[in-house]
Order: sequence, then C-alpha cells, then structure tokens
Amino acid sequence: MTATQRRLLQRARQARKKAFAPFSRFKVGAAVETPGGRIYTGANVENASYGLTLCAERVAIFYAVAQGERRFKRVAVVADSEKLTGPCGACRQIIWEFCGDAEIILGNLKGKTAVHRMRRLFPFPFDKSYL
Ligand code: THU
Repeated sequence: MTATQRRLLQRARQARKKAFAPFSRFKVGAAVETPGGRIYTGANVENASYGLTLCAERVAIFYAVAQGERRFKRVAVVADSEKLTGPCGACRQIIWEFCGDAEIILGNLKGKTAVHRMRRLFPFPFDKSYL
C-alpha cells in the first residue's frame, strides 16, 4: 500500500463517520481521487423506503461530478466489517463509467486493507462504447 493509497483510505474512514445509516447501522465511507490529485468524499445515506438509499461510493462520485469533475483514478471504501466491503453491483457500474479500470482500495476499522482493479471486479461491462 503506497502513501497515496493510505491517504485516500484515511479520508474514506473519516467520511464514514458522517454516514446516515439508521436502518442497517452499516456505515460506509468512500473517497475518490481525480487524475489531478483532488479528493472528494461521501458516506451512505439511507431512507425509510430502503430502495432510495445511496451507497457511499455513489455519493462521493456524484458529489465530485456535480463539482465539475469527470474522471477518477482511485476509489477507497471503508466499513466496519471483518471481511472487507467491496462496492455493490450498482456502484460497480457507476465506478466503471466514471473511473474505468481504477484502483479500488478497501479497508476496515482494524487496519485490514486490499487493493483491486476494476476490470477484475467488473468484467465484461456495459458502457458508452456500445452506444
Ligand atoms: N453500502 C455502501 O454504502 N457501500 C457499499 O459498498 C456496500 C453497501 C451501504 C448501503 C446501505 O446503506 C448499507 O451499506 C447496507 O447495505
């Protein structure tokens, strides 16, 4: 794990504290890094109608896109789970479209970490190349 990856993970860990997860009590934090090194963070935001819940990854990416960013090279995700929490299927689609074959850095609160690449987490994707 490089210093840059560790820094991004730390930002995701901080962002997790702001999660709004009264229904699942499963708080997640995410941080995305632009090619220029800017970092944006997000946390999951749940809703009483459950299905409207937004994952931390999508909150971070959509927030950054709404600030004018269009591309990201790294995504960090932190949750309090023994087994490292990876992005859900819906988030993998969103991450693929905005980040391509980005580094996905996972961490838990005990300091366990792993680094994956999107092309392995999301093989044979549908994207704008078909349109
Ligand atoms: N969640 C995330 O925010 N990111 C993930 O990668 C997995 C799941 C959230 C959604 C929901 O608020 C809670 O975790 C339980 O599924």
